[in-house]
Amino acid sequence: MSSPIPSSKPGQRAHLSNGGVDFLLEVIDGAPVIRYWAASFKGELSQHLFDRSIANSDFDEVVSPGIMREHSRGHLGYPTIKGHRAGLDWSTKFSVKELQSDKNSFRIQLEDSDAKLTLDISANLDQFGVLKVSQELTNLGDTYFLDELNYWMPLSDCATQSLDFVGRWSNERNPQRRDIAIGRYVRDSHEGRPGHNYTIGMIALEKETNFASGQSWALSLAWSGDSQYCIEKSYEGSASMAAGEVLLPGEVILAKGESYKAPDLYALYSNSGLDGLAANMHKYLRARSVHPKTNRPMTLNLWEAIYFDHNEEKIKKIVDAAAEAGFERVVLDDGWFGSRRSDLSGLGDWQVSKEVWPDGLGSIANYIRDKGMEFGLWFEGEMVNPDSELYRAHPDWILKVNNRVGPTWRHQLVLNLDIQDAYNYVLDSVDKILTQYQITYIKWDHNRVLIDAGSNNRAAVRKQTQGIYRLFAELKKRHKNLEIESCASGGARIDLGIIDLVDRFWTSDNNDALERVRIQRWSAQFIPPELLGTHIGADPGHQTGRSLSFSFRALTALFGHAGVERDITKLSSSELAELKSWITLYKSKRKLLHSGDVIRIDYPKDSHYLHGVIASDKKSALISFSSLETIPESHSPRIRIRGLDSDRRYSVKVLSGGQKSNFMAIELPKWITTGLELTGSELENIGLSAPILRPASALLIEITAL
Ligand code: DGJ
Repeated sequence: MSSPIPSSKPGQRAHLSNGGVDFLLEVIDGAPVIRYWAASFKGELSQHLFDRSIANSDFDEVVSPGIMREHSRGHLGYPTIKGHRAGLDWSTKFSVKELQSDKNSFRIQLEDSDAKLTLDISANLDQFGVLKVSQELTNLGDTYFLDELNYWMPLSDCATQSLDFVGRWSNERNPQRRDIAIGRYVRDSHEGRPGHNYTIGMIALEKETNFASGQSWALSLAWSGDSQYCIEKSYEGSASMAAGEVLLPGEVILAKGESYKAPDLYALYSNSGLDGLAANMHKYLRARSVHPKTNRPMTLNLWEAIYFDHNEEKIKKIVDAAAEAGFERVVLDDGWFGSRRSDLSGLGDWQVSKEVWPDGLGSIANYIRDKGMEFGLWFEGEMVNPDSELYRAHPDWILKVNNRVGPTWRHQLVLNLDIQDAYNYVLDSVDKILTQYQITYIKWDHNRVLIDAGSNNRAAVRKQTQGIYRLFAELKKRHKNLEIESCASGGARIDLGIIDLVDRFWTSDNNDALERVRIQRWSAQFIPPELLGTHIGADPGHQTGRSLSFSFRALTALFGHAGVERDITKLSSSELAELKSWITLYKSKRKLLHSGDVIRIDYPKDSHYLHGVIASDKKSALISFSSLETIPESHSPRIRIRGLDSDRRYSVKVLSGGQKSNFMAIELPKWITTGLELTGSELENIGLSAPILRPASALLIEITAL
């Protein structure tokens, strides 16, 4: 038996088409129903196109609950909204009041006049195929307790797998790929910050989708607090994907006339593989007015060079070496303030320590500037050590419930930015230091999770998240050229919410290139490389204790906003020379590295990585081919590079890593030393014969149009 779904009335359809993506929403019996979200199509959308059968044991007519996923309209899965008015109005039935749309955008107003709620949804599909959606719920009745409001996007039945990321400190962004099965698969974070285990986004994809080809759909929330991503497949076969803020109990209670504005959603689609998906997001982010426009400076971060040992003479020697090597920015990390001689005390006391900097920071800041470099400084404004002047004076300024002081984490507690005096204290102290020392770069850390995050005993993760957004915006307003690096014990606050307020992410505390190369590869799924801090660490690495060649560490750190994190005065003169030439290389290639399309090539196993950047005019490319471990076969897979102009001829040259010690072979393919000329089509289809690299080594290949 089949019964046609009632079609939408004229004017009750939004058909967006841009950037190779079509998005179709129709109003069916008052419900907004997303009919299609995938590659652009041509056609008239005839009346019965979306008809479907009625199964046995089913509603007597076809129901189309749409994106609100309401019981009242026959939806049997997880709902879009959960809330109630002291036990009432728990079940809603929203109907479209108004729908306005054009080719790229729509705005829809929904109302449930019984439940006395309205919902405004607006969306824009941009030239890169990125759909940005906002929604705001308004309460028109008595006090309404909102528990959850998510965004739900129906998935094509081609999407049979999901991809998300998991991790921990120093090991972020491990990919997890699995089949979409019947039931609900959830990735949520409850740390009050995204966390190391934060997935950044949820991706649905075809079984065959790889970096180069295949369809994929992704959602990513513009939010730095608690969040959830979910894929649900119902027993009747359809699957949908969701993202939304996780609200703590009572966190959003709306009085009459009040609204809840959900964090914005980015919804991405590509039919050119995971690289296509990444390219769309990168292009979108690069087109923002706030995207950093200047050359990303070669950075020396002093954390792993000195830790808490702030000795001016020693630091000046490092600065001398930095200037000589070609660094452009030096960042003084943790330990310059209060009693912060270790992580046990002083956090929150944002006054320069007389003990380690008796004359203030002016002399080191000027020393760095006089040598032509920028001075950057570390803060962790949302935190406090119990052993600090700040905490002794204001023990009530922390996030807490009922005066319970929860367990410390890295010996610290979290300040409550919802307390105006606490917020002002942090803002004014940081502002004062920035003004006094004319600081244009800060690294802002966040080294613990939030628990029992109460303000006046009410849940306050949302307010805390909005607080840091406000604070960053205000600092940037007061200091026009200020750049902020978002750090949270490495990569625990990398998300599309904070991204508009920061200029760099500290990708991970793990500088071990063998692990870092994977962390960078997957962080770049959403974040363009110029926003990802990538440093050469010490040898052996401080996190894993592993020794790796300079060349491998350097080539790994090249593909991002590059820097170094070690005491460079300890380098031998030949190591210093190597460092210098790497810095020169970075400077000469950063325009390409930070504007081109990221490509990642699939190999059957993760024994080899091939990644790089292709210039948008396809006239040049920089490719890294690395071996991570030995394989049972003698020969490595070929180096096939896609994305160049098929008909154009290119010269291929090994720029770095070509030294004999990098290989396990008696003789190498000739092109390693002589270079080669070939077409883009040959590069993609035939590829280069790969040399047999030692494990943990890499080859940097430059490709230039002839
Ligand atoms: C954690 C960060 O990830 C490190 O880079 C460093 O800034 C330390 N905190 C300082 O305490």
